[in-house]
Amino acid sequence: MTDQSSGIDESKPSIARVYDYLLGGTDNFPVDREIGDYFLRDLPGSVAMAYANRQALVRAVGAMADDGVRQFIDMGSGLPTADNVHQVAQRHHPAARVAYVDDDPTVLDHGRALLAADDRTILVQADLREPESVRDHPDVQRLIDFDQPVGVVFSAVLHHLNDSERPADLVRWWAAEVPSGSLVYVSHFRSGANEETRLVEQKLQDSFGRGRWRTDEEILALFGDLDLLPPGLVPCRLWRPDPTAAEVPTDEGDLTVWERLISCGLAGKP
Ligand SMILES: C[S@@+](CC[C@H](N)C(=O)[O-])C[C@H]1O[C@@H](n2cnc3c(N)ncnc32)[C@H](O)[C@@H]1O
Repeated sequence: MTDQSSGIDESKPSIARVYDYLLGGTDNFPVDREIGDYFLRDLPGSVAMAYANRQALVRAVGAMADDGVRQFIDMGSGLPTADNVHQVAQRHHPAARVAYVDDDPTVLDHGRALLAADDRTILVQADLREPESVRDHPDVQRLIDFDQPVGVVFSAVLHHLNDSERPADLVRWWAAEVPSGSLVYVSHFRSGANEETRLVEQKLQDSFGRGRWRTDEEILALFGDLDLLPPGLVPCRLWRPDPTAAEVPTDEGDLTVWERLISCGLAGKP
């Protein structure tokens, strides 16, 4: 079932394609929709996590750009969707450069067309668990100046690494690699120690063998020695909400039980 030219296997579900399906995209196959439909049908509120995550990413990239970051590496970038990182970054700074990294061949296949006209944006197929292969990739070396601040983005991806894959070491590796003034963004499934957490974690583990809900303490530990910036680690919807939005949540009481299950934070390298 694997297409030899693209490497895409339509018989196995893909995290990127299930996520695309939940966000209303069309770059997915029946095997992905079967898993997506479980969430839509049996746990419909859970889809709010995907939207809360994307919207926080847009605000965080804007904040990083406003803080002077002109170049970004987006780890586990996913399939192109509305308001991709390079579009957000370039809205704030037309010269902003973005390297997308994902190991899913579907992402490469669909992302290339979107990025073809833009020489400040690249898409690299690499396994983020091997950070040297990302840093040393010739396209990354060409685009990213490691003497200038870098915005390193781990949006909804570190929870797809099991503990044995040492996600904190990965963040620490990048924190050591980038210069002072760099910013690291992490969004992550947050354990509510409730039935909702158990059901979604179980489904992802059954489908992909990965999907690890972490406690606030465990997520905070991912930032290592970096300086966590205001408002700290909070549910995505509470991370610097747009004050002009129709609804501006102020505390967890304003969120659904599902919206409390994904958090994010932005940290700086002093
Ligand atoms: C849930 S999606 C998140 C997409 C995007 N970052 C966002 O927040 O909207 C997770 C992405 O991480 C990618 N991914 C998972 N493990 C990876 C790995 N080891 N190396 C590179 N990409 C990975 C998946 O292919 C998928 O596209």
